[in-house]
Amino acid sequence: MAPVKSKSVTIPDNLEYDTDLFVVPGCYREDIKSVIIPAGMIHDRIKQLATEIHAKIGDEPLMILCVLKGSYRFFTALVDELTAVRYNCKTSLLVDFIRAKSYENTETTGKLELIGLSSLNELKGQNVLIVDDIVDSGLTMSRLIFTIKDLGAKQVWTSLLLSKRVPRKVEVDENFVAFNIPDKFIVGYGLDFNQRFRDMNHICVMSDKGIEKYKNAGKLF
Ligand code: HPA
Ligand code: MG
Repeated sequence: MAPVKSKSVTIPDNLEYDTDLFVVPGCYREDIKSVIIPAGMIHDRIKQLATEIHAKIGDEPLMILCVLKGSYRFFTALVDELTAVRYNCKTSLLVDFIRAKSYENTETTGKLELIGLSSLNELKGQNVLIVDDIVDSGLTMSRLIFTIKDLGAKQVWTSLLLSKRVPRKVEVDENFVAFNIPDKFIVGYGLDFNQRFRDMNHICVMSDKGIEKYKNAGKLF
């Protein structure tokens, strides 16, 4: 099948909404500088992305792979929307969850340790849609694609909530992308800073105060 390259919604460099305009939990208000993608826009875009994915992949058996933890919200919303657009399908949708642990080297084809698959044969012969939260350097994603192909997947596509406008260390196929975002550190809708902010509904830019407050918080888990 020909490679697919998604269109995506571009969030401009200068677009930042005042946090007072949106519902932001009190515990986070001073830690957030601005909202860049409000919750409603995220949901609408995911609905459309599911239509784009279904139009490209069609009624084929599909395994959707959630790369934890960052993509957990994007994943559940995407599966809900895909299920809705696949109402006429004869083939089933499988879901699975992995965590990817990168080894400390710079090889783009280096293997990742994948935690969570019940068997290494699980991906053999499958059409796999990798669902991840964000791509920046492309290094982890390229290793993930390499590892999943190495485990015998038949076809591999990627679906990304966010593609950051930073130079890639390695080019990866970004097949289905929800948003193209500026080079800013963002949190919310699954994305964290030292494990905080995953539960926030909007995608936001952190304030200097928030970064200072949580930078030494360390890993909770
Ligand atoms: N926020 C959270 N996690 C990330 C980011 C970010 O901007 N970039 C890569 N991982
Ligand atoms: Mg990720």
